[in-house]
Amino acid sequence: KSSLPDVREQTLIAVKPDGVHRRLVGQIMQRFEQRGFKLVGLKMLQVSEDLLAQHYCHLRTKPFYPSLQDYMTSGPVVAMVWEGHNVIQTSRIMVGHTNPAEAQAGTVRGDFSIHVSRNVVHASDSREGAEREIQLWFQGKELLNWESCDQTFTC
Ligand code: PPS
Repeated sequence: KSSLPDVREQTLIAVKPDGVHRRLVGQIMQRFEQRGFKLVGLKMLQVSEDLLAQHYCHLRTKPFYPSLQDYMTSGPVVAMVWEGHNVIQTSRIMVGHTNPAEAQAGTVRGDFSIHVSRNVVHASDSREGAEREIQLWFQGKELLNWESCDQTFTC
C-alpha cells in the first residue's frame, strides 16, 4: 500500500448550457480524466428553477440572478461528480477564474470563454460547498464506488 498522502474528496463539476451547446463536454471531461480524477457520477439534465435556486441560494438577491437563471435553464446541463486527491482545489484551478477575462490560458474558462455570464462550467468551491451541491444534484445511489487498480492515485 502506498504511503503517499491522499486527501480523498469529491466535487461537483457542471458543464453549463453554453458548454453543452458548444460541444465542449468531451474536452472538459477529458481534462479531468487525464489529470487523474475518477468519474463517480454523471447525468444530463434540464435544470429546474427550484434546483437552481437551491444551488445558488447565496446569489438570489444579486442583480444578475434573473439572467443567471435564464442562462442556466436555457438548455441541458451535464453534471458530474469527480473524486480524487485534493479534487476540490485542483478542479477550481483547472476551471480558472470565475471571470473568464481573468482566467489563465490552459484553464477551461481561459481557453473557452470570454464573459462571466457564459463561463462554461461550475466547480464547487469548498468541502462544505461540494458536499451540499453533490447531495442536491445527485441521489446516493447515482454515485458509483468503483475502484481503480491503484487505490491511491491514478493508473
Ligand atoms: S459574487 O457576487 O461574488 O458572489 O459572485 P461570483 O462569485 O463572482 O459568481 C458567483 C456565480 O455567479 C455567476 N455569475 C454570473 N452569472 C451570470 N451573469 C453574471 N453577470 C454573473 N456574475 C456572476 C458566476 O459564474 C458564478 O457561478 P459559478 O457557477 O459558481 O461559477
